Amino acid sequence: MPKMSLPSFSQILVETKKFVEPRLHAFVRQATTHGRLSDALLHSTRGSGKYIRPHLTLTFAQSTSQTAIDLGCAIELVHCYSLIHDDLPCMDNADLRRGLPSVWKAFDEATAVLAGDALIPLAYDILAKLTLPADTKIELIAEFSQAIGGNGLVGGQMMDLFPSKNLNDIEQMQLLKTGALLSFSCLAGAILAHGVKSPQVRIAQDFGAKLGLIYQITDDLLSVRGTSEQTGKPVQNDDDKITFVSVFGVEGAQQLLLDLSADLAVLSQQTQVDHQLQPILDFVLHRSY
Ligand code: IPE
Ligand code: IPE
Ligand code: MG
Ligand code: MG
Repeated sequence: MPKMSLPSFSQILVETKKFVEPRLHAFVRQATTHGRLSDALLHSTRGSGKYIRPHLTLTFAQSTSQTAIDLGCAIELVHCYSLIHDDLPCMDNADLRRGLPSVWKAFDEATAVLAGDALIPLAYDILAKLTLPADTKIELIAEFSQAIGGNGLVGGQMMDLFPSKNLNDIEQMQLLKTGALLSFSCLAGAILAHGVKSPQVRIAQDFGAKLGLIYQITDDLLSVRGTSEQTGKPVQNDDDKITFVSVFGVEGAQQLLLDLSADLAVLSQQTQVDHQLQPILDFVLHRSY
């Protein structure tokens, strides 16, 4: 019998993207009748996005139901908003995203601000319409608001722009700007699988937050050692940023990654999806894009 080779995790992500992306584009097409805004919204979803957040939601949900996919779309759309705004000249001033001109470069700055703005209510609209009991939706919406607000993603972006060299602050910045949405992606899936009261929900949330730390450190390493052909975004543009890579150097950051990944492997064993999480962790640790 011929030996069957297992798909790589990159191939698995491509498969996730193939079935989530059409639904996401359908949501975006319904978001506005304004042609330029619509084009900008679609542009922000195109290119080499990895769809790791919807993948985490589907993994923790242990399901590819319409509800799980729609939840993943809402999360991915807020991620797209965060990238549109992150690239603006007043933030990271990046002209390339996912291998394409960033939205402000392809359109204009004001359109990029408004396109980002439009994606947030679109995500909430999707959450409000999920086929779930009302109390589950309220819990999801409350957790989502915490994850992406001033004590979540937006707070982390502020800390990134006005940095401190204190190690606890650097960790907090990464936990918020990147960890909070990854954490919600896992928590939301676990809520679908187990209900809001299950201990699995907080384990998933914790897993996602720690994965977020690792994800941001590998992002910062790629920014130092990667190429823009690999990453689809500018590299070596973090000179004024304070990160674990700028503080500890490449080798120090790699050691930190080893320590964090050992903790995460232990936490993964407390979930009911340990086997699916191990390849995700490997991918995040060794990713080249
Ligand atoms: C980039 O996120 C920004 C960070 C939070 C590190 P991703 O690396 O997940 O970006 P895409 O969606 O694959 O483009
Ligand atoms: C992005 O952080 C975090 C958010 C967009 C919330 P970075 O600025 O470090 O990520 P890239 O390198 O531009 O994707
Ligand atoms: Mg940034
Ligand atoms: Mg950036």
